Amino acid sequence: QTPTPYFYTTPEEARLLLRQRERFSHKGTFGHALLLVGSYGKIGAGVLAARACLRSGVGLLTVQAPRCGYAVLQTAVPEAMCRPDTHQYVLSGQSEIEGIPYEEFTAIGVGPGIGKAPETANMLRTLLSQYRNPLVIDADALNLLAENRDLMSLIPEHSILTPHPKEFERLTQKWENDYDKLEILCDFARRYRIVVVLKGAHTAIATPEGDIHFNSSGNPGLSTGGTGDVLTGILTALLAQGYDSVEAAVLGVYQHGLAGDLVGRQRGQIGMTATDVLDALRWS
Ligand code: APR
Ligand code: MG
Repeated sequence: QTPTPYFYTTPEEARLLLRQRERFSHKGTFGHALLLVGSYGKIGAGVLAARACLRSGVGLLTVQAPRCGYAVLQTAVPEAMCRPDTHQYVLSGQSEIEGIPYEEFTAIGVGPGIGKAPETANMLRTLLSQYRNPLVIDADALNLLAENRDLMSLIPEHSILTPHPKEFERLTQKWENDYDKLEILCDFARRYRIVVVLKGAHTAIATPEGDIHFNSSGNPGLSTGGTGDVLTGILTALLAQGYDSVEAAVLGVYQHGLAGDLVGRQRGQIGMTATDVLDALRWS
């Protein structure tokens, strides 16, 4: 087996990946993202992902959430359209999911705040059986994959999975040391032909080709609930705009960390919130 090629995302590299806007562009140029998010008590995760998606340049955004999240989302994120699910409290909408006009969306992100209800597992199964383009898969969508292993083989190629270490362990196995962890990461991304963003200080991004990109931005101020949901919004926005999955992951993770660094410089790391982070996103 050939050794893993390692890369390190520098500010210069991130700058080269970032596309500038053409003068004669319009919102259709920047894609239409769909976020499948939220459950009773966790609609906030959906709000954060949605607001981060809009702060990352998407042309249009639709959010599908349980009915209990409808008023919250329409108020907290007026820029987004909302598809209320059939279910009041959890994402279930078998009929809604089956009825999603997939061709209207240029990217789909699923997971923040969705919980692990059996109806939600069915929703994920339906989505994975029908959708063939790369998805962003996060949070409880990852835990549902870990609990329903047969779903793994349905994941579209080049999808981006964004586990934190605990979620990654549930998807794979316990590791002995950091070297072992990277090997498991690399094998996992290769095996399923996906991009895996293993989050933490120096987030490691494994590609379907078996490369690993380490991130250089970010700080422990980001260790607070909701910053992961912000990352999901960012990555979904980048896929929607036509970045390929590896570009989206490398650039999105860098920009997320950079926003955290900007907040850290302005007001310190302690007390940083996910909202501060998404508001600090800077794409220039
Ligand atoms: N240095 C740099 N970045 C960090 C650090 C650190 N020390 N700590 C955390 N981060 C970044 C991670 O890289 C990641 O991008 O903050 C983000 C945290 O994401 P999650 O761990 O997914 O946290 P979040 O989702 O916001 O937590 C809320 O959702 O996924 C579930 O189980 C999760 O209960 C948790 C909940
Ligand atoms: Mg998370």
